[in-house]
Amino acid sequence: MNYKELIKKIDKLKIPKHIAIIMDGNGRWARIHKTKRLNGHKKGVEAVRRIVETSTEIGLQYLTIYAFSTENWRRSRTEVNYLLKLIMDSLIREIEELNSNNVNIRFIGSEKELSQSYNKKVVEVCRKSWNNTGLHLNVAMNYGGRREIIEAFQKIISDVQAGKINKSKIDDKIVSNYLYTTSIPDPDFVIRTSGEKRLSNFLIWQSAYSEFWFTDTLWPDFSREEFIRAILDFQNRERRFGSR
Ligand code: FPP
Repeated sequence: MNYKELIKKIDKLKIPKHIAIIMDGNGRWARIHKTKRLNGHKKGVEAVRRIVETSTEIGLQYLTIYAFSTENWRRSRTEVNYLLKLIMDSLIREIEELNSNNVNIRFIGSEKELSQSYNKKVVEVCRKSWNNTGLHLNVAMNYGGRREIIEAFQKIISDVQAGKINKSKIDDKIVSNYLYTTSIPDPDFVIRTSGEKRLSNFLIWQSAYSEFWFTDTLWPDFSREEFIRAILDFQNRERRFGSR
């Protein structure tokens, strides 16, 4: 079935509100194609473009992509620098087009290890799309779920000590408000490419009730068609959130 036919099959009333994606397999794609790892990442950006376009086309509200994790610093300096630059350059290059498609960009993650000039560019990119009300594209950058929860703990403890919140009133809503993802609904659907079946520290609090989709496809090969097929599969699932 081609893309146009597949997209028609989507039940508009049951589109997940928030899809989160672990884009994995760029390195293996490069190995298979006998090219440098960096070219795998470059090819991965094309897949990001396709999936963002499809997301706007189907009227998705939130898309979160795992671009760079707190663990990714362990890679070679060359790869780290390349990835950071690739992500920022791609967003800067695409910002006008993203804007014309009403895409609102937000970064989630820690500013700590990133340079001041990088963080400045993050703010600039976000500011340009500030007023957009279409797809909310969350770029997880220097993101780690455990780090996010630790930072939330620190802020909550300070606010308890300052008398701003009452310790006995802390519930899951309050904790959610202290995460990087404040005001972003929890992901309904988490997709991971390249055959690995783990969360790798991605949205570990937020994905407590998410549905998961794992595919062997390597991220640079992830197509619009497969994205739609994944959503169709999601639409056939029954979500109970712990109830019967
Ligand atoms: C995992 O593949 C992929 C990454 C660590 C980077 C993902 C980033 C992009 C695709 C660029 C995103 C761009 C924008 C505009 C946000 P891997 O290197 O771990 O692959 P492997 O497991 O096969 O080695």
